[in-house]
Amino acid sequence: MTIDNSSMESVSHEERKFSPSSEFVDAAHISGDKAYRALYEKSIQDPEAFWAEAAGELHWFRKWDTVLDGANAPFFKWFDGSRTNLSYNCLDRHIDAGLGDKIAIHWEGEPGDSRDITYAQLHIEVCRLANALKVRGVQKGDRIAVYLPMIPELAISVLACARIGAVHSVIFAGFSADSIRDRILDSETRMVITADGGYRRGKVLELKKIVDEGVMTCDCVQDVIVVKRGGDHLVDCPMMDGRDSWYHNLVANVDDNCPAEEMDAEDLLFLLYTSGTTGKPKGIMHTTAGYQVYSYLTSKYVFDLKQDDVYWCTADVGWITGHTYIVYGIMQNGVTQVMYEGAPNHPDEGRFWEIIEKYKVSIFYTAPTAIRAFMKWGNDWVTGKDISSLRLLGTVGEPINPEAWIWYHKMIGAERCPIVDTWWQTETGGHMLTPMPGATATKPGCATVPFFGVEPAILLDDGSEVEAGILAIKKPWPGMLRGIYGDPQRYKDTYWCKWGGKYYFPGDGARCDEDGYIWILGRVDDVVNVSGHRIGTAELESVFVEHQDVAESAVVGISHEIKGQGLVAFVTVIDGRDQDENLRNELVAMIDKGIGKFARPERILFSSDLPKTRSGKIMRRILRDIAEGKDLGNVTTLADPTVVEDLQKQYLKA
Ligand code: WT7
Repeated sequence: MTIDNSSMESVSHEERKFSPSSEFVDAAHISGDKAYRALYEKSIQDPEAFWAEAAGELHWFRKWDTVLDGANAPFFKWFDGSRTNLSYNCLDRHIDAGLGDKIAIHWEGEPGDSRDITYAQLHIEVCRLANALKVRGVQKGDRIAVYLPMIPELAISVLACARIGAVHSVIFAGFSADSIRDRILDSETRMVITADGGYRRGKVLELKKIVDEGVMTCDCVQDVIVVKRGGDHLVDCPMMDGRDSWYHNLVANVDDNCPAEEMDAEDLLFLLYTSGTTGKPKGIMHTTAGYQVYSYLTSKYVFDLKQDDVYWCTADVGWITGHTYIVYGIMQNGVTQVMYEGAPNHPDEGRFWEIIEKYKVSIFYTAPTAIRAFMKWGNDWVTGKDISSLRLLGTVGEPINPEAWIWYHKMIGAERCPIVDTWWQTETGGHMLTPMPGATATKPGCATVPFFGVEPAILLDDGSEVEAGILAIKKPWPGMLRGIYGDPQRYKDTYWCKWGGKYYFPGDGARCDEDGYIWILGRVDDVVNVSGHRIGTAELESVFVEHQDVAESAVVGISHEIKGQGLVAFVTVIDGRDQDENLRNELVAMIDKGIGKFARPERILFSSDLPKTRSGKIMRRILRDIAEGKDLGNVTTLADPTVVEDLQKQYLKA
């Protein structure tokens, strides 16, 4: 693999450095750079001692025999021999400590309705749903798909599954019926938990209807449980006899206590599908004990969580950020958090700052694409609100451009709040590279230093260490994925084959600066990051070629002012077929149906052929350059250089 991703060229040479205030440093869990370095050193020298100590802060029904078992690498085991339960550590542990009356979730619906839920109430709701699932015949190990809007029942469903050892597979509510079907079939899901609808920008998205269409051909689905959320705003929500039941009816008739199942360390906790370089999404597997400890400790240190904090992460639980940093990591720390259902600009662009003011949010975690949208909407939306409760800011999902970082620092952080730019992935389970807020001097756009126990390196294909190249992780860490569901070979091939099976390959390019800080330069594979949503270009391509008029297609990522990256599709149409707006609309409709509206390309360009090498390989770099209006340089290695000219002319015309 060569590094030819366009975003790699935007190697930033940002010189500014921002240190946390002495007040912040003094009060922080990790206080000062010396403390960070000492603990980091310890975590690398003796990872087993380090992780055992961290695990000691949590509840175990039985302690582990070994911390790390690498006998069958890359199928690592963490805390083998232990028995524990994530839902117990998120709920019961706090209630036992006398914190039952503490607010777990300040939930805010998009239309303006709200609910405050204490840890004790959340415990009851989780237990009731867990009991209801048992009544429906759900057993330990069964897979349950969750397709819900950002309502408390989403967190409750996840925790109820964990409580009884069912495996949740949350599907982000923006995915289409086809995507639901593929995920359900791949993991033989027996049940779906959904809602009649959810609010987004003042409209109700009818989720149950999408589920009905998705599960039509899925014999494995025996049960569909439906939360009433859209309620009166919906015309109807047809229920299928024998298969569908209302959530509120099921939980009304069960006990409000359900003992947490004692799970083995490596029992599967959840599946979360994510995009790779082929058309088929990967069911990333996370297991119990390692993920538990990693999500707990990264939350505690990276967000410097204290008992009086009010934390808010704006991600959806449908992505890994919500799994780890709304549900598991945050709730294990027993803090109060805000959960918001809707869009940042409903009813107006001041909604987020209003929520921060209302709940006195102290820690705010969002994505660069959102920050760029706030910048565009203008400072007036912020200045009228009292957001002085904030003490720490975070960003995640894609590289943040220094301009957006500085705006965030000044406008939201009042030049006082540290910013943690956290680099990690669905596969890593939790933060991997990130500043420690009370220790690391930050640089705009830089993910800086490794979390404890994480040993990064920047390598070439041949394994030699370089300043700018491909990011590698040299050691296993507790939050790591344990595999791809149903496909152990793909797990090995994708993540462990480069560098002789020794290191983990995340798929990002990186650069190391003079301070030893690591800058993430974007993906080195055919994965594109649109508004923080990871999309494989091959997924779109496989949708397009299903159209009868399409011979071939290539989709590339280009830089986009707000979204970070956007998609441009080059489509070769079969000779003699119309290349018009109708075809374009049909192709867009196919993406909506095959993946979801969020994967729509910015532009679709028709061509008679695609630029290829003489051996027939599509030259994506050239397509990216065309789509970004760049000078193409030397194209003489192409089989047919005129193809490029045609495409470029068309691109400029369109
Ligand atoms: C990819 C993972 C991590 C949760 C959300 C995305 C990119 C993520 C950063 C960051 C630069 C980042 C990487 C990574 N990415 N965070 N702070 N700086 N790039 O999870 O969907 O699994 O995507 O997102 O390219 O590989 P994901």
